[in-house]
Amino acid sequence: MQATVVGAGSWGTALGAVLAGKGWPVAIWDIDPVPLAGIGTSNENTRYLPGIPLPPTLRPEADLAKALDGSQLVVLAVPSHAMRIVAERAKDLLPTGVPICSVTKGIEVDTLMTMSEVLEDVLPLHLHPYLAFLSGPSFAVEVAKGMQTAVTVAASWGRVAKLVQEAFHTPYFRPYTSTDVVGVEIGGCTKNVVAIATGLADGMGFDANARAALITRGLAEITRLGSAKGANPQTLSGLAGIGDLLLTCSSSKSRNYRVGYGLGQGRALEEIQAELGQVAEGVLNAKSVHRMSAELGVEMPISEAVYRLLYEGLSAQDVLRSLTDRHLRGE
Ligand SMILES: NC(=O)c1ccc[n+]([C@@H]2O[C@H](COP(=O)([O-])OP(=O)(O)OC[C@H]3O[C@@H](n4cnc5c(N)ncnc54)[C@H](O)[C@@H]3O)[C@@H](O)[C@H]2O)c1
Repeated sequence: MQATVVGAGSWGTALGAVLAGKGWPVAIWDIDPVPLAGIGTSNENTRYLPGIPLPPTLRPEADLAKALDGSQLVVLAVPSHAMRIVAERAKDLLPTGVPICSVTKGIEVDTLMTMSEVLEDVLPLHLHPYLAFLSGPSFAVEVAKGMQTAVTVAASWGRVAKLVQEAFHTPYFRPYTSTDVVGVEIGGCTKNVVAIATGLADGMGFDANARAALITRGLAEITRLGSAKGANPQTLSGLAGIGDLLLTCSSSKSRNYRVGYGLGQGRALEEIQAELGQVAEGVLNAKSVHRMSAELGVEMPISEAVYRLLYEGLSAQDVLRSLTDRHLRGE
């Protein structure tokens, strides 16, 4: 099977390595030549996954048309703010009748569209049935090292989810299928915001009790939002919901957790972001989740507090107070 990965960041490279590790020729493209250069010369993405050897069948390709030519599986792995631009660029080059799998988590800030909505907005109608969405608890660095991982692949057409599941399945990478695209997408983009909150609590010196409370109440508000968007609440109890939430909210490997942690220690957002050198999508997601919950009339106190911390200058102490001083209610 020949595959194409669009986006040579950490996640695109790790997933390209999963496919290439099965012996398949995989072309990987990026707008930036830097990550491609290392993959070509030393089988290593020196920028995003330094020190991890990549299979030689993962081949960098600077020409998007050539990268997509003859592909039997297309993986879209760019940040959410670049998905529309990349889809516009690729729409006339994409092969017909093969799965197009977005692995991006996020909501477009201006339109509040999920990635499936952005792709359906840009791509021609005949490609829509082939869209799939992969999400779940998965740090790129662990996947690139061949460590055990399980994810969810959702597609409206079950056959497409199955094709993607089979393509990615290896002894260490186990995809489950779903037809609940919106549920999988809502889980993937909201957990980053809650991770900023758990990082913040840890950075302020709180411990396991606070983290467990934030994760549990975070899941409750994510499930409320998902239900309002038409998701099956059960999806949010799965890998793409609680699974990803647990991962992101409790590990310093998560950029979003690290943003919160730094803020909890009293550091400036700009300084933390510069140190990370990569996009912490929760910062953008906080804005879109805030607007989406307001539009749908869904109460999301944790996400709202994170939004006010990032965009309205609320202090870490005030964030805490806004959560603990809320009106008492039933669980
Ligand atoms: N890193 C992870 O562990 C991980 C795991 C699961 C899901 N994800 C999701 O995958 C997506 C990508 O994350 P990442 O960690 O790989 O990001 P990253 O910052 O490591 O890399 C993003 C890549 O996209 C490229 N890019 C940016 N704008 C582009 C454009 N307009 N055209 C083409 N390429 C462009 C960049 O050059 C970069 O190589 C995000 O939505 C993220 O939430 C990441």
